[in-house]
Amino acid sequence: MNVNSQNLSSIRKNKTFNNPERFIEGWYWVLPSQNLRVGDVKAVTILGRELAIYRGKDKRVVTCDAYCPHMGAHLGEGNVKGNELRCFFHHWKFDAEGICVDIPCLDEPLPIKIRTWPTAEKYGLIWIWTGDIPKHPIPSAPELEYKEFDFTFGPRIVMNSHPHVVMINAIDIQHFNTVHKLASDIVFEKQELHQNAITFVNTKYDGREAFFIKVIRPFYKNAITYRVCYWYGSTGIVTIGTDFLHVHIMFTLRLLEAGKSAAQSLIMIKKRQGIFGWLYNLFVLWLAKTFVKHFIQGDTKVFQTMQFNLKTPIKADQSIMQFINHLERQKPLNWGTWNLARSQNLEIKESREKWRDALSND
Ligand code: FES
Ligand SMILES: [Fe+2]
Repeated sequence: MNVNSQNLSSIRKNKTFNNPERFIEGWYWVLPSQNLRVGDVKAVTILGRELAIYRGKDKRVVTCDAYCPHMGAHLGEGNVKGNELRCFFHHWKFDAEGICVDIPCLDEPLPIKIRTWPTAEKYGLIWIWTGDIPKHPIPSAPELEYKEFDFTFGPRIVMNSHPHVVMINAIDIQHFNTVHKLASDIVFEKQELHQNAITFVNTKYDGREAFFIKVIRPFYKNAITYRVCYWYGSTGIVTIGTDFLHVHIMFTLRLLEAGKSAAQSLIMIKKRQGIFGWLYNLFVLWLAKTFVKHFIQGDTKVFQTMQFNLKTPIKADQSIMQFINHLERQKPLNWGTWNLARSQNLEIKESREKWRDALSND
C-alpha cells in the first residue's frame, strides 16, 4: 500500500535532507579529547570550514577560524601561549574569545577579533556548535541525561552516503529482518522533544523472535526496549535492552565533501557501583561493541553504492518520512560557509519585502 499523496509530495520538496551542500545548525564532533593535549594546536576542517583548535593551560579547548586576520597564515601552525594562540608568522596573539591581545611591533594591539565557535567536551570527544550560541545541548540519550555512565568508542569510519541517509537505518524497519535477520514487528511512536531532537519508541514486539531474543527472553517480563533519539539530523542514539539492562549506542556523523560521512560510534551504559559493577559494565560494553561491529558490517556495503531516492514509500517507511519532515523544519546551513541556507522562495519574498519597505520609507 502506498502512503498518502500529502506525505509523498512533502518528501519530494526536500531541501535539506540528503543535500550534499547542507547540514543542520548543531553540535558536531571534531576529534577525540585525548588527541588534543594542553599546549597542542591543530588544523581541522569541519563541515567544509577550515578551523584551528587548541587547548590552553586551563585545559579549555578553543576553536577559531583558521586564517590570521593579518596576512592569512593558518593559525593551526601557531603556538599556544598560556590560554592564548600566537600566529606563527608575525606573532600576533589572540585570546580564547578571539580578541587580538598583542602585536609585537605595535604598542597597542589593533581592535580586531577572529571568529571563535562554542566548544565543549563530552564522551571523550571535542564538539563544536556551528552557530553563535548553542540552542540545545550536545546529543544524549534522554535516559542518561542527568546520570553518570560508562562508555567506550566503537568503530570510526567514512561512509559513501549522506549522514541523513545513514541515520534512517536505525528506523528502517524492513531491513531489520532482511539484512540483520532480527525477526521483528516493530511499531514506532514518534515524539518531537524540541526543534532539534525527535524520538522513535517501539511499542510492540510480536512472538516471531530471533534466536538472540529467545535466549534472553527468560530474564525479562516487558517488551524489548528499542528507542531511537535523533539530534540535528546527524546523531542517532539507539537505546536497546530489556527491563534490567539498557545499552545506548550513538552514531554521530559529519557531512564530508560530495555527500560522504565521517562517522564515530560510541556505546554507553549507566554507571554501576563497586568493583563488580565496574567489571559488569566492562563486559557489557565489550559485548555490545562486538554487536555494533557486526551490525555495521551488515550495512556498510549498501551505503557505498546506493543512490538514495525514496520513490515508492510504503507504510513501513512512515517513520523515515517523519524523520525527514522533522529534519526539514530545522535550521539549515551551507556546507563550507556555515551561512544560513535559504530557500529561493524565501529569498524572493524577503527581497520583495525589502523593496516594499524601501518604497514606504520614501
Ligand atoms: S599572518 Fe599572522 S601575524 Fe602575520
Ligand atoms: Fe542496519
